[in-house]
Amino acid sequence: MGFLKKLLTFALAGASLRGLAVGVDFPQADIDSGKALKEISQTALNTALARLDGSSKCTKENVRRRKEWRTIPREERKAYVKAVECLMEQPNVYENVTGPKSMFDSFGVLHYRVTPYVHNSAYFLLFHRLYVWTFEEKLRTMCGYTGAFPYWEWGLDAGGVEKSPLFDGSETSLGSNGAKVNGSNTFFPGGSGGGCVTHGPFANYTVNFGPNTARNPLAYNPRCLKRDLNTQICAQWASLKNTTETILESPDIALFQANLQGDFRWPAARKWGFAVHGGGHFTIAGDPGGDFYFSPLEPAFYQHHGQIDRMYFIWQNLDWKNRQTMAGTITMMNMPASRNGTLDDILDINPVGGTYNYRQLLDTVGGSPFCFVYE
Ligand code: CU
Ligand code: CU
Repeated sequence: MGFLKKLLTFALAGASLRGLAVGVDFPQADIDSGKALKEISQTALNTALARLDGSSKCTKENVRRRKEWRTIPREERKAYVKAVECLMEQPNVYENVTGPKSMFDSFGVLHYRVTPYVHNSAYFLLFHRLYVWTFEEKLRTMCGYTGAFPYWEWGLDAGGVEKSPLFDGSETSLGSNGAKVNGSNTFFPGGSGGGCVTHGPFANYTVNFGPNTARNPLAYNPRCLKRDLNTQICAQWASLKNTTETILESPDIALFQANLQGDFRWPAARKWGFAVHGGGHFTIAGDPGGDFYFSPLEPAFYQHHGQIDRMYFIWQNLDWKNRQTMAGTITMMNMPASRNGTLDDILDINPVGGTYNYRQLLDTVGGSPFCFVYE
């Protein structure tokens, strides 16, 4: 084979490999508009469904389909809100703490306790996958929810978060923005609220403990739910373009999780700023939404992290064979320095949920425990 021909063959093989991994090279306009995201998300869904060959407990018949909030029928969205309110009435499972009053609160205690190990570490994606799934399980088993579990595609609201079907304050939302307060009290420049949620679901919800700066963060500290919706942050860091490019520009798990979190230890991840993870959190902001430790006490946390998990699902399924690995150490930003995480490590979230090894959490259609896909 002549040199040129060899070179060409090599280049073509490279191109088709890339093609397999990420679909095709998309025109920038399709990346910006969300068309590319629709395509790769469909490819990922097909790839995951193709694994349901009847060999596990998870089948084409019983697989759950998670959906974007605004694509869920109105009655089902109301049922979801009801189920979350019901979880706020179920007993807390932690002892010797005065703040937490409900099962919903118990999720906040769990997150507070593991925060230094499950962010900017090897465990970030798989911990949060189990965490959100366990929340969904509680809604179903304790509160009878039977609908689809909703995620939030932030990029659809980059034109105005206040108008978002999640935050417009209607009965099919998760409640309104916070009341407008004096600019110096808002969370970030560009925030349009800052005060207590004024109407809609969760306007009367009491945040029972936190913030993480309190002397005793788990002590009873009742207060209103505050939001400071921020369209600027959403448009800059959590747009459809950011979501799509984060998936397409991440060849391995180390870079994917760095790009997603804006982990500045990776030079390539620095351009993402807050990145989609921080971007989504700070689009809501407020208290406890903007609190690194207690953000799960903000009900919309689960839709935000649903979307993070959806991105992980899409990314994995675009090259499933090669994307069942873990990277990084077991402490946040490797401080203090620690060993690498492995898929054989055990994740025990008792008394809120169960005990698994991380390998079991890789496949959302693996059947033990997961059986869900993202539409
Ligand atoms: Cu977290
Ligand atoms: Cu988070």
